[in-house]
Amino acid sequence: MTDRYCVFGNPISHSKSPAIHTAFAEQTGEDIEYTAIAAPLDDFAGAWRRFTAERGRGANVTVPFKEEAFRLCDTLSQRAQRARAVNTLLLGKNGLTYGDTTDGIGLARDLGRHGVALAGARILVLGAGGAVRGVLEPLLAAGPASLLVANRTAEKAEALAADFRDLGTISGGGFDAVAGPFDLVINGTSASLAGDLPPLPDGLFAAGATAYDMMYGAEPTVFLRWAAKRGAHTFDGLGMLVEQAAESFFQWRGKRPETDSVREALRAGL
Ligand code: ATR
Repeated sequence: MTDRYCVFGNPISHSKSPAIHTAFAEQTGEDIEYTAIAAPLDDFAGAWRRFTAERGRGANVTVPFKEEAFRLCDTLSQRAQRARAVNTLLLGKNGLTYGDTTDGIGLARDLGRHGVALAGARILVLGAGGAVRGVLEPLLAAGPASLLVANRTAEKAEALAADFRDLGTISGGGFDAVAGPFDLVINGTSASLAGDLPPLPDGLFAAGATAYDMMYGAEPTVFLRWAAKRGAHTFDGLGMLVEQAAESFFQWRGKRPETDSVREALRAGL
C-alpha cells in the first residue's frame, strides 16, 4: 500500500510542496503519494488524526499551523523545541507523532549552495515572527561574528534574541537600531507579501554582501530590488523551500533527493 504524505495549510491551493515531493519520489523511486490538504482553522489536530487513520505517514505543515503542530507532537527534535514550531510531522511505528523543523537547515543549505560564508559574518535578520525563530539556531551554529535581529516591534526582537543568547552573539532591537555594514542581510518579515520595505538605512551592505529574502516570486521582491541597487548579491527563498522539503523527505524516507533540477523546474514555472 502506498504511504501517504501531505502538506497542511490554510489556504493551501498554491502550495508547491506536492510538485516538489512528487519529483523527489520519482527521482528516488519511492512509492508515495503527496497531496495538499486545507486543514480547518479550528481543528488542526483532528485533520492530522484523520490523515493518519487513512495511511498518512507524515506531513509538512505551513501557515498558520506550525505552532499547533508543535503542540500536538509526542516527541520533538531539539531544533523544533528551540523554534517552538514544527514544519515536519512523522508518524512513528509506535503510533506516536514526532515533530521536526527543517526550515533553518533549508536556509543554511541554500546559503551554502550560493557560497555565502556564515562563519565570521556580520548578519542582520529582519523580522521576529515564527519564520525568523525557525532559522536562528543554524545561523548561530555556523559561528557568525554577530547577529542582529531587527523588527518593527522592537520588544519582540529583544525577546527573541534573549531566547537564543546561549547559542552565540545575538542581539535584538527596532529598525532604528540598525547600523551597517553587514555581510549578510536576511529578510524574514512578511512585508514583501504586501510589497512593503522595512525602513532600512543606506550603508547597510559591506562590500560583497548578500541580501536574502525568505519569500520568493516570479519577480524579485521589493527588498531584493532595493538591495540590488545598493550592490548586494541577491537571492530569494525558492532554494530554501526546496532544501527544507528535501530534509523533510529525508526524515520520512531515509533518502536524500537531488535538489538542483527540482528548483530549476520550479523557477521556470513561476
Ligand atoms: P511569520 O510566521 O511569517 O514569521 P509572523 O509571526 O506573523 O509571521 O511575523 C511576521 C513578521 O513580519 C513580524 O516580524 C512582523 O513585524 P511585527 O512583529 O512588528 O508585527 C513583520 N512584518 C509584517 N509586515 C510588516 C511590514 N509591513 N513592515 C515591517 N515588518 C513587517
